[in-house]
Amino acid sequence: MLNIILCGAPGSGKGTQSGFIVEKYGLQHLSTGDVLRAEIASGSELGKKIDDLISKGNLVPDDLMYGVIENYIASLPADCKGTIFDGYPRTVAQAEALTSLLAKYHMDAIMIDLLVDEQLLIQRLIERGKVSGRADDNLNTIRHRIAVYHNQTEPIAHYYLHHGNYCPVNGNHSVEDVFLQIERILDK
Ligand code: AP5
Repeated sequence: MLNIILCGAPGSGKGTQSGFIVEKYGLQHLSTGDVLRAEIASGSELGKKIDDLISKGNLVPDDLMYGVIENYIASLPADCKGTIFDGYPRTVAQAEALTSLLAKYHMDAIMIDLLVDEQLLIQRLIERGKVSGRADDNLNTIRHRIAVYHNQTEPIAHYYLHHGNYCPVNGNHSVEDVFLQIERILDK
């Protein structure tokens, strides 16, 4: 089974590259951002709380995210080839929780870290914001999301480096070039 943790700042290309990986390797794709946006769209009370956090560019609490991931892993079909975890983990506590959950099911994962210069991230997200309709794709919130990424998510690189499954990728290049780098890692 091939499990991939796809990490990177907002706009680094996690969703874009997930699409290519799904197509070539037949993996399942779990985007925690999509799961949370679906909860918002449902109009539930929980969705309203999540909306308040996401639209300000803040992270949703770890315990809530843990429930999402636990349910997902417990319901994986027996013939699953593996999962792309897109946007999870985003804190060291989430990384530790995922390691334990995967171990419980005799699984592990590699972490692919999409590294992109900040100016490029902002350009991409401003451009996407013209059509995405996402409440968090505006300059102020984008800057805050990037700061949250540096403070809370970047440290997980050290966690995976320490665990020996860290794979950095230069995400500044074209979509195709970035996918080539990912293919080289996955085909090893
Ligand atoms: P989420 O939906 O995961 O958003 P994000 O991390 O901010 O990432 P984005 O979707 O903005 O970007 P991406 O890296 O997927 O890039 P994409 O491929 O779209 O999370 C949203 C929010 O949910 C979080 O802020 C948080 O509040 C909450 N949340 C989610 N998970 C959580 C968790 N685990 N814990 C707590 N809270 C959580 O590309 C962006 C744009 O760039 C696109 O227009 C694309 O076409 C373009 N592009 C991509 N690659 C390239 C390239 N190589 N060259 C040129 N353009 C490119």
